[in-house]
Amino acid sequence: MKRPTPLPCMFVMFGATGDLMHRKLLPALYNLFEEKRLPRGFQVLGVSRDQSLTDAKFRKWGVGALKDAGFPSSSKFARWCDAVLQYQTIAQGSEADYAALGARIAAIERAHSLPGNRVMYLALPPNAFPSTIEGLGKTGLNHSRGWTRLAIEKPFGHDLASARALNALVHKYFDETQVYRGDHYLGKESVQNLLAFRFGNALFESAWNRDHIRNVQITVAEELGVENRAAYYEATGALRDMVQNHLTQMLTLTAMEVPAAFEADAIRSEKIKVLQSVAPLRSNAVVYGQYAAGKLQGRKLRAYRDAPGVAAKSRVETFVAMRMEIENWRWQGVPFFLRTGKRLAKRTTEIAINFRSPPIALFRSIDARVPHTNVLVITLQPDEGFELSFEVKSPGDPFRLQTQRMKFLYAEAFGNLSTGYETLLLEVMQGDQTLFVHGEEAEAAWRLYTPLLRHPPPIHFYDAGSWGPAAANRLLAGTDASWSTR
Ligand SMILES: NC(=O)c1ccc[n+]([C@@H]2O[C@H](COP(=O)([O-])OP(=O)(O)OC[C@H]3O[C@@H](n4cnc5c(N)ncnc54)[C@H](OP(=O)(O)O)[C@@H]3O)[C@@H](O)[C@H]2O)c1
Repeated sequence: MKRPTPLPCMFVMFGATGDLMHRKLLPALYNLFEEKRLPRGFQVLGVSRDQSLTDAKFRKWGVGALKDAGFPSSSKFARWCDAVLQYQTIAQGSEADYAALGARIAAIERAHSLPGNRVMYLALPPNAFPSTIEGLGKTGLNHSRGWTRLAIEKPFGHDLASARALNALVHKYFDETQVYRGDHYLGKESVQNLLAFRFGNALFESAWNRDHIRNVQITVAEELGVENRAAYYEATGALRDMVQNHLTQMLTLTAMEVPAAFEADAIRSEKIKVLQSVAPLRSNAVVYGQYAAGKLQGRKLRAYRDAPGVAAKSRVETFVAMRMEIENWRWQGVPFFLRTGKRLAKRTTEIAINFRSPPIALFRSIDARVPHTNVLVITLQPDEGFELSFEVKSPGDPFRLQTQRMKFLYAEAFGNLSTGYETLLLEVMQGDQTLFVHGEEAEAAWRLYTPLLRHPPPIHFYDAGSWGPAAANRLLAGTDASWSTR
């Protein structure tokens, strides 16, 4: 069932001329318009420090962004940009600048008969979050005669102390019910499908525990290297860039208990409990790597340290693998292996649930091969869907077992899926926080990883185009698991 169209509102888009707005946010808003999911009178007020921009120039910029995104009819989206996009500079970010912003918002609301419902969307570099939140709060733009919601892009802090400080500032001016901390993975259908899959199918939910599952592997593997983002990546690394947010979201949704209800508070509090149950990470349970030169599909690839902008002796991790233990009733003794890296052999984002072997090896006397155990792989990228492997008898004599796979692909069943931003933007307008990170959850994740930020493990080098350093294999010692390299 389609949700009702959101109440009339406007987006105040801080960072309106940035890469995220260009590639994702504006195309997603336009998609929502095409699908008739935007409310009556919807407006976007773009904000950046650029004082030379005008409404007309910003609309032109918007048309360019939608062209780049591949939308076919330029006259239609040009009309939409003219009708919807406005621009206001925040200049130096003084109180007078925020007051001018407030006056502009009010004027737009009057002109379009909007009831004062506003999304303050911070698509800004993280170092601009605090001054912007302060600016909004001090000039009373944290409230309006309708509702005001604050959407904040990732990353939310860079360690526990900074996340706490940012939460304290946010809560000085905004109630938690107004706050939408983003992690765009949560907008993906297949991530949301984890909930449907687990809690909508008694078959799987009854097997989703230590009695039936021997280990879980969560992988976010990229073929790309650092590309032209060296300045960002040198200050960030894989732990902050991927593990603290995307992999942790996949972990909590995979491991959480059944929520009391299918609503935001109940779901988010179960996710927080997972993080609170993770045993402190021992340094020998984490392996860091950095890609050296190598080859992928016949193409020679240079080392991370040779990329422009990267320090010649950089110790920044481009690969992280870790073994986690969740100390609760459901998962005691089931290792969770998390792995992410750049310049790996294949681009894939997946969760592999490895089930236990049957209690008796019944076929041992007739087939020496150790039967594969059932594996459920939930793929988030590039082909969203899932695959269940199981053993069958191969036809004829002698009696032999063979692994077969049952596959479901979202694109085959439902056509192409949205990028996920459409869902998230709509949810902010609807006031549904389920797919956004609670302040406590952000802190709980940083609490888990901050010891590694203080005392990072040594770096192991791996060939670009491989599956990471061999040292990652030692994390599997004592289990019968092996890293999935499908
Ligand atoms: N790009 C992505 O694919 C992506 C994906 C996930 C999350 N994110 C997150 O989204 C946020 C934005 O990323 P981005 O890649 O779009 O960054 P970006 O390309 O550097 O754009 C930043 C935007 O913010 C504006 N800006 C900078 N400082 C400002 C300030 N103090 N007040 C108002 N505007 C300011 C910039 O314009 P002026 O300099 O003219 O002010 C520009 O419009 C970041 O937090 C990033 O981590 C990005």
